[in-house]
Amino acid sequence: MSSEQKETLRATAANANLTSYEEARRTFDWSEVEKHFTWHSTGKVNMAYEAIDRHAEGGLADKVALHYSDATRLEAITYAQMKANSNKFGNVLRQLGIGKGDRVFIFMPRSPELYYALLGTIKIGAIVGPLFEAFMEQAVRDRLEDSQAVAIVTTPSQLPRVPVADLPHLKHVILVGDDLLQLAAGQVDFKAEMAQASDELAIEWVDREDGLILHYTSGSTGKPKGVFHVHNAMIQHYYTGRIVLDLKEDDVYWCTADPGWVTGTSYGVFAPWLNGATNVVRGGRFKPQDWYDTIERFKVTVWYSAPTSFRMLMSAGDDTVKAFDLSSLRHVLSVGEPLNPEVVRWGFKAYGQRIHDTWWMTETGGQLICNYPSMDIRPGSMGKPIPGTDAAIIDDNGNVLPPNRMGNLAIKTPWPSMMRAIWNNPAKYEEYFRFPGWYVSGDSAYMDEDGYFWFQGRVDDVINTAGERVGPFEVESKLIEHPAVAEAGVIGKPDPIRGEIIKAYIALREGFEPSDELKADIAKFVKEGFAAHAAPREIEFKDKLPKTRSGKIMRRVLKAWELGLPTGDLSTIED
Ligand code: WT7
Repeated sequence: MSSEQKETLRATAANANLTSYEEARRTFDWSEVEKHFTWHSTGKVNMAYEAIDRHAEGGLADKVALHYSDATRLEAITYAQMKANSNKFGNVLRQLGIGKGDRVFIFMPRSPELYYALLGTIKIGAIVGPLFEAFMEQAVRDRLEDSQAVAIVTTPSQLPRVPVADLPHLKHVILVGDDLLQLAAGQVDFKAEMAQASDELAIEWVDREDGLILHYTSGSTGKPKGVFHVHNAMIQHYYTGRIVLDLKEDDVYWCTADPGWVTGTSYGVFAPWLNGATNVVRGGRFKPQDWYDTIERFKVTVWYSAPTSFRMLMSAGDDTVKAFDLSSLRHVLSVGEPLNPEVVRWGFKAYGQRIHDTWWMTETGGQLICNYPSMDIRPGSMGKPIPGTDAAIIDDNGNVLPPNRMGNLAIKTPWPSMMRAIWNNPAKYEEYFRFPGWYVSGDSAYMDEDGYFWFQGRVDDVINTAGERVGPFEVESKLIEHPAVAEAGVIGKPDPIRGEIIKAYIALREGFEPSDELKADIAKFVKEGFAAHAAPREIEFKDKLPKTRSGKIMRRVLKAWELGLPTGDLSTIED
């Protein structure tokens, strides 16, 4: 299709922070951004200082840093209070003997305390590991074991899912709850300790390349990978907050992601606060009315969410939109999976806003391919690489392909927020950089003749369900623990709302008969034993699963069955 024919939503924002994308691509240099930070003159770096304290000390003390709300709480926390509370938590950790480089995990639902803990951990130079609240015991164990975490901040209701006895490195369990009566050895009462802690803290100044955060993410094989990020990432978080989120100081910004996922930290904590914005956090489950109410109540101006949420809002209907005053919105963005053109069209109609798609990954730490307010949008395209970086489509030998050819989406190395390691796994890390000068994303895509990038799919088998990345291997491993399951192969099945749902093909052990009750029981087993978001929504029983001679389940064959497509090359199949 020629570019004139392509559906286009024209650029509207005349006063965007980024006025000309083309010009910035020619002239922009990352070193310009560094001048913004205190460390440019002092040489002393700490992400939490730049995000919170600098504003608390520099005229924004009484500005609301965080509007928190859920079904039972409504709190506004100023920059000064955020500074004081995170200082307190830093002191609590120091009193426990925790310091620079130690891994401290956070495993709790969203609440103001979560943010105090996250920032306080960073302030003392420790490495924070956020865990999604819904993880079950085995998922928690794998992550704490791999990272050798020394402390975890959690709630009494989640405590049973923290296998303390199996984790010799885990010395402290910090419990966030009311009226904690009896504490076992190693348990710490968050509220009581915070109440007596000083709100003055000597920040741990670290090196730009020192550890900041560890996000575990799924691949197609093996255990989850600990993606390791450093303080230097702030350069990209600040800059993309300016040019992609288009944040200005009077913005009220809402990122709907949980900090257990990278969007909820890079763009739910760092980018908005580095830019001095007011940040909104809504706890609890998704409900269209609650979400629109959040926009109306806090007069949200910039809103960052995900395709799966937009699709659910779309199916909730236009009348639900009309029941609320959403006129404060001025900039809407999306991330996590392909944003369907249909959703972009609907958003334009229902909200009067262009939804700006953005592409990046846990590993990239920050946004890389985006749509900008001052750039025309082509619905269905992820946009163009941010100034200061380059993206290309390369073939399986590392050669750059011309426009309109599908291949591996790759990013020219380095960029400021790039991961610095896979924890404990240098070989995995190297795999991303197998072609000199390139980071290979694992996504396939093409670039059109005008430089817009179009997502085509994952190259490997990772499932993207409701915006969350699930590794089939972890789910299969859990499934085969079920007494009835002999073998399991897990794929993502296309789904109009969730993007993909998890579908499991299962071969039963002898003596077990297929039934709906058994399906329900197997799904429940994964839900309770691993994580609800990773439980199969669909199960199909098979006598046998397709496997390679080396015993690897051929998920692409399962996928072809599912989609009614040819199964392709079967030369490596078992029989
Ligand atoms: C994978 C990364 C970092 C954001 C949250 C997801 C898919 C992400 C898009 C997009 C199509 C997208 C890719 C990517 N993805 N954004 N705009 N269009 N696909 O982070 O869990 O590390 O997953 O999500 O497949 O590789 P993640």
